Amino acid sequence: MVTDEMTIGVSRRNFLQAVGVGSSAGVMFATMGAVGLAPTAAGQPKNESWSPPRESDFTLTGRSRKKVVVVGAGPAGLASAYELQKAGYKVTVLEARHRVGGRTLTIRDGDSETDVNGVRQTARFGDGIYMNAGAGRIAQWMVTMDYLRELGVPYEVFTNANADAYLYNERTGSTPGNPTRYRTAKADVFGYTSELLTLATDQGALDQKLTAADKENLRSFLRSWGSLKADGTYQGGSNRGFSEYPSAWNEHGTPLAGPGSVSEVLASRMGQYFPFEINWEQSMLMFQPKGGMDTTYDYFVRAIGKQNVHLDSPVTGVRNTSSGVTVSYTAKNGKPREIDADFAIVSAPAGLMRGWETNWGPDIDAALGEFALGSPAGKIGLQYRSRFWEDDHRIYGGITETDMDLAHIWYPSYGYGERKGLLVGYYNTGTNARTYADMAPKQRELRAVEQGVKIHGAKYRTELESSFSIAWHKVPYIEGAWAYPNTESSRFKQLQQGAGNVYFAGDWMSEVSAWQHGAFWGARYAVQALHTRVMTT
Ligand code: FAD
Ligand code: ALA
Repeated sequence: MVTDEMTIGVSRRNFLQAVGVGSSAGVMFATMGAVGLAPTAAGQPKNESWSPPRESDFTLTGRSRKKVVVVGAGPAGLASAYELQKAGYKVTVLEARHRVGGRTLTIRDGDSETDVNGVRQTARFGDGIYMNAGAGRIAQWMVTMDYLRELGVPYEVFTNANADAYLYNERTGSTPGNPTRYRTAKADVFGYTSELLTLATDQGALDQKLTAADKENLRSFLRSWGSLKADGTYQGGSNRGFSEYPSAWNEHGTPLAGPGSVSEVLASRMGQYFPFEINWEQSMLMFQPKGGMDTTYDYFVRAIGKQNVHLDSPVTGVRNTSSGVTVSYTAKNGKPREIDADFAIVSAPAGLMRGWETNWGPDIDAALGEFALGSPAGKIGLQYRSRFWEDDHRIYGGITETDMDLAHIWYPSYGYGERKGLLVGYYNTGTNARTYADMAPKQRELRAVEQGVKIHGAKYRTELESSFSIAWHKVPYIEGAWAYPNTESSRFKQLQQGAGNVYFAGDWMSEVSAWQHGAFWGARYAVQALHTRVMTT
């Protein structure tokens, strides 16, 4: 399909080629600016604007291609390198860890990780089984989807919400062996809320707010949303689910016992989980790359060129020089090395950069301090010899929510119907994450299983084959799960300007921290600022 934008783009370029014959690079570039093709100082990147650097920006202006060192091979670093290289920049990526992907870590059989205290774990998983230890899901609107498509990464649906998954609030009444299905809790909360609102409407409590027609429309909505009886009361119904589902002719099934009273339903505090489904970052439908989140970054590396990405190469210093930057690092063989380049984009966690040898000054160090990741999050992968959650509980993907310290249990959105499978047995943050992080891996497993048994029964213990856990604030070179910076602060704006020939990128340099989307936009902002500078000086 040819859009207006495409035809306008082509004709503008043809026009430039015509003007470009016999013109100096400067005249050519000014002309490009006049027709809106060249980056200009006035065209500083805005939050949602992105005009990627192009090869033609160099060929049309006669400028020389610059050399950029990118520090960190997480999403922000690799996207920066990818976008720059597409336009003809020479890039070198230095990554401290033994693998790329940063916080998008996927653990597969044989993978080992050693934490900052020297505790080492090696995964013993079956063929094709993996655990997304960091990032796991992608919303449809995220730019992450665009990169998957551009790079050809295969992806599939990630089930983020499942009416057949459970809710288990042990502080407000759930008891071992009696978790509540999401659908049941919803039917009850919606039902009683509808009954109460209908009553309030009928008693005239909303007369100041609503016209007679509004009230009739509201009543009609509440009748269907809450499955109300003709008299406006909630008395349960098939939306709650069945203990025996309807089957053959005249086998009507056995409705679940209940509902409890309105007070019991309100006291269960299960309604608190429902806003998640329309949370702008989280709501269904979501996606995941096939085979694990970090697969995406193998595709980035392939596009950038494996020879340009150096693993096991921690950067120890970044210094501005009169002609560019000097980046110091320890090479894989343990020897100290330096690279000179025109620019650097640094995407390591902000707090850790303060330990480097730099000459960008105390103001930048102070600003970086505000964006340190710091906050803890943890996950455990539990591999089972059978998929009892599918076979016995009829849960195919999705998430069980709890008020226990394991917080969430994630069922796999892949490998349905296969023999073995892997659950995420806890995914927690804050104090809960610290509690687990302070235990040895075996203790973490025992605690997670002890809680999961209350929901899934004995198989949660007896079918277990192996586990692997991660505590993000203990992962070397990362040391935290995420940071939620104040993007209105002057510090944020200061970092966005960069420091001399150094630009900063990362999810913490965006409006959407804790998401790859944010890391990609952080990268785009840095790339665009750098390229604008190259094209205007
Ligand atoms: P990072 O991924 O942290 O990459 C930084 C890189 O810099 C690392 O590879 C690090 O080793 C390297 N580095 C550090 N120091 C040095 C040094 N001295 N020299 C060289 N390299 C260095 N996102 C989603 O999109 N969906 C999700 O579902 C999701 N869930 C998440 C769940 C958890 C538990 C966590 C922790 C994160 C989750 N995220 C999710 C967020 C996502 O993983 C991050 O937003 C993304 O990885 C940030 O990318 P980055 O490049 O900014 O930083
Ligand atoms: N973005 C992270 C998640 O979805 C926090 O789990």
